[in-house]
Amino acid sequence: TELPAELWRAEQVREFDRIAIEEEGIPGFRLMSWAGRATWAAAAARWPRARRVAVICGGGNNGGDGYVVARLAQEAGLEVTLFHVGDPTRLTGDAFTAAQAARKAGLEPRPYEGDDLGEFDLLVDALLGTGLNGEVHGSARAAIEAMNKAGRPVVAVDIPSGLHADTGAVLGVAVGSSVTVTFIGLKVGLFTGEGPDRAGEVVFHDLEVPARVHAMARPAATRLSADRELPERLPPRARTLHKGGAGHVLVIGGDTGLLGAVRMAGEAAARTGAGLVSLATRHTHAPLIAAACPFLMAHGVERGEDLAELVERADVVAVGPGLGQELWGRALLEVVMTAGRPLVVDADALNLLAEAPRQRADWVLTPHPGEAARLLDTEVGVIQSDRTAAAAGIQERYQGVCVLKGAGTVVQGAAEEPPAIAVDGNPGMAVGGMGDLLTGIIAALMAQGLSPEAAARTGVALHAAAGDAAAGEGGERGLVPTDLLPWLRRLANPEGG
Ligand code: APR
Repeated sequence: TELPAELWRAEQVREFDRIAIEEEGIPGFRLMSWAGRATWAAAAARWPRARRVAVICGGGNNGGDGYVVARLAQEAGLEVTLFHVGDPTRLTGDAFTAAQAARKAGLEPRPYEGDDLGEFDLLVDALLGTGLNGEVHGSARAAIEAMNKAGRPVVAVDIPSGLHADTGAVLGVAVGSSVTVTFIGLKVGLFTGEGPDRAGEVVFHDLEVPARVHAMARPAATRLSADRELPERLPPRARTLHKGGAGHVLVIGGDTGLLGAVRMAGEAAARTGAGLVSLATRHTHAPLIAAACPFLMAHGVERGEDLAELVERADVVAVGPGLGQELWGRALLEVVMTAGRPLVVDADALNLLAEAPRQRADWVLTPHPGEAARLLDTEVGVIQSDRTAAAAGIQERYQGVCVLKGAGTVVQGAAEEPPAIAVDGNPGMAVGGMGDLLTGIIAALMAQGLSPEAAARTGVALHAAAGDAAAGEGGERGLVPTDLLPWLRRLANPEGG
């Protein structure tokens, strides 16, 4: 089943909980029971032959959900071992009620004391949920490490224990689950940072909380942008369209030794439907490109002055792929910066921009984490520990739209809008040149009339979808950027036309 598009911060989900209970009159224990049921249903459907299950419960409501799961697993005839971490006499409210119900069913929780969990068929991680308040400490740490060491399937309740619900950062140690069953609202942290790596398959259940509850806490922190949104967002092509009407993209880059980058960006722009694609590159490169890709208009440009006229003729300029950081690249970039054309800025153009920050409303910046760190004068670790914050920070400093690449690409447009996180794509795409394609794709979509933000979101989704399609065909390992080109064309024509 499809996931909802909106992602929320833990604080917002807590607010949904509160509204559901206090204003909608839904008993908290009913929410907990539903959460337990949804978790057990997901587990039973995936591991129907599991006989022995261990449920590891923490001292909060996440643990409460776990007590419900334990009871349901027992009812289903499984042999259930119930572990608790922390003092069970301190359970309160619904979690207390759930633990009592488990006891009544003969499930006496025992403290987790370093037991080996490898003997179980299935583990349920109900240790820490959205209430995690810092680096994991105490016996929770040992329990998480044991779950990871067991080599058994793990079903995480709401969020893998140890994962920060808002940033996807691992707070010291975190469970790597096979499935995460999450409730009421999708948590941002499942889709950014380490989240996609730790959460496994994400299953969502709304616990029958009415949709109006979400309306009270909008806007969402983040939106997912997924393949399914593609067809609606691609610009329509009228029957009477002519090449000028589909936009003219100019790609600038390809210093000596860096020809491939600018060529791939140009090809991607063409395969995404730009009417005309020009390249401005080193003189010696131009005939090579013309021979290989006759549909690209390659111009040898050695000096900034020679670029102005090409820029003038373009609708959108993409600058950076293979630009280098030498005098040649600097001179070309300077011309582009002051020309009144919408821009896509990538790669070395970003490194140069970081040296002398400026602001424009009509550009899309597409940094990977290293470039993002330079743009914000910080370390890669800081960028990766809170990717949505980093994207927002870049957008604030440079304006326009920021596309922070990497697993869970973040698109941050106008500051007041929530960012989008791409859930598609695969590790096969972690190879040189993939970013050059994205640059060309986004530029082509802008040239066809999408706003920078819409082009960024759509481009990221298209790029990821093409990457997934290409990986599906021949595997992730060994995927190269040009494998995506035929898929770009197919996916950019939703009716297969
Ligand atoms: N290290 C170890 N234990 C911690 C840490 C930490 N850094 N932070 C919090 N805890 C412990 C607390 O002592 C408490 O026992 O985790 C427990 C609280 O965590 P949660 O159960 O996640 O918090 P709570 O707000 O009670 O429940 C939220 O309930 O609605 C369900 O599953 C849903 O995730 C959601 C959860």
